[in-house]
Amino acid sequence: MSDLSTTSTQSRPAAAGPDLRSRRADFPILATTNRHGKPLVYLDSAATSLKPQAVIDAADAYNREYSSNIHRGIYEIAERATTAYEGARASVAKLINAPEPAEIVFVRNATEAINLVAYSWGRRNIGRGDSIVLTEMEHHANLVPWQLLVQEKDGDLEFVPITDDGLLRLEVFEVLLHLKPKLVAFTHVSNMLGTVNPVREMTEMAHAAGALVLIDGAQAVPHMPVDVQELGVDFYVFSGHKMLAPTGSGALWARRELLEAMPPFMAGGDMIREVHLRRSDWNEIPWKFEAGTPDISAQIGMGAAAEYLMAIGLDAVRDHEHEMVAYALEVLRRDVPGIELYGPAADRRGGVVSFNLPGIHPHDVAQILDRSGICVRAGHHCTMPLHERFDLAASARASFNVYTIREEIDALATGLREVARIFDR
Ligand SMILES: Cc1ncc(COP(=O)(O)O)c(C=O)c1O
Repeated sequence: MSDLSTTSTQSRPAAAGPDLRSRRADFPILATTNRHGKPLVYLDSAATSLKPQAVIDAADAYNREYSSNIHRGIYEIAERATTAYEGARASVAKLINAPEPAEIVFVRNATEAINLVAYSWGRRNIGRGDSIVLTEMEHHANLVPWQLLVQEKDGDLEFVPITDDGLLRLEVFEVLLHLKPKLVAFTHVSNMLGTVNPVREMTEMAHAAGALVLIDGAQAVPHMPVDVQELGVDFYVFSGHKMLAPTGSGALWARRELLEAMPPFMAGGDMIREVHLRRSDWNEIPWKFEAGTPDISAQIGMGAAAEYLMAIGLDAVRDHEHEMVAYALEVLRRDVPGIELYGPAADRRGGVVSFNLPGIHPHDVAQILDRSGICVRAGHHCTMPLHERFDLAASARASFNVYTIREEIDALATGLREVARIFDR
């Protein structure tokens, strides 16, 4: 990484110890360069993570060695595929301490998981005048499915507002709970502000008011220990591709009794027990919710990613990313004059830093950084209402993962100074 930012490597202590260096070697894409010969500085992990060799190998082995459908074939490679697919489910269950693998429904991503709950549980349990409490910091994935549901059922949405520091206003949440909502659905970690929300405390409050709780864990599961039993929630959703797994993988966790009471979301092969011309019986959970042939290799990759993360240890992952975010906030504030940073202090956030350089559109920022091989996200990050809350059209976002090192954050600071120089700021 020495050519990323010479100033930083000379003036600051080495950030990446031997463990981190060898971990970076697990990600083949980090050895690549862009068309200008610059090494990849990947600071867009909140959009999707890089994939380690162990995950690539697991998905690849399915395609090379035992490509066959699951739950059907009586021959050797089909049995191997079923074992690998169900083994992945067990690994994902272990990652979030689900009581049993049967409570893990494999889906394509967090968006599909939320839609599944909105269609299946929502259409059965939300009626005229019922309210659902969300927050102002939701990703569109945890907003639009509920909009569709309440429009259809004549229900209401209520929103927990946020402070200027990007924290949920729990005193308003408490008041909203007097409306006796049927469901409270919110993100564990904000993908724009990085805020880590107090899930356990809010869940206790919601349960006391008689509501069920759905947590969008897309930005939490890859980055910190998540224990659904300890959190006490009812539904928990996350995407595989943000937790080092291939795209096309994801999971919904819900308590067995909820899943058993919910009708199927999609219908077809694999989700049935018996089919007659005019009626059918459903399969057991979780297969009742997995109609058709899933993305088998991606889910096998998700199992490998869960094992990879557990081998590092989720406490270590969280500590590393906390160190990166604290460092980023310090360096950007100190070294990039005029930068506007959004979100709470480092001790209340995950590995996400959104920012703007005054008077420069974030798309220009991202484009200029790209010349130096630095990848950041620019836009509204699928959180338009949150940007409106802060009176912003857009922002740039740097986000971290297990492979992020300080030199990359130094490179970002250097790159941002260069952007400001080009725009004469
Ligand atoms: C907080 C949050 N929720 C949900 C999603 C949706 O994830 P996916 O596109 O994988 O469904 C994202 C993706 O950025 C996210 O950050």
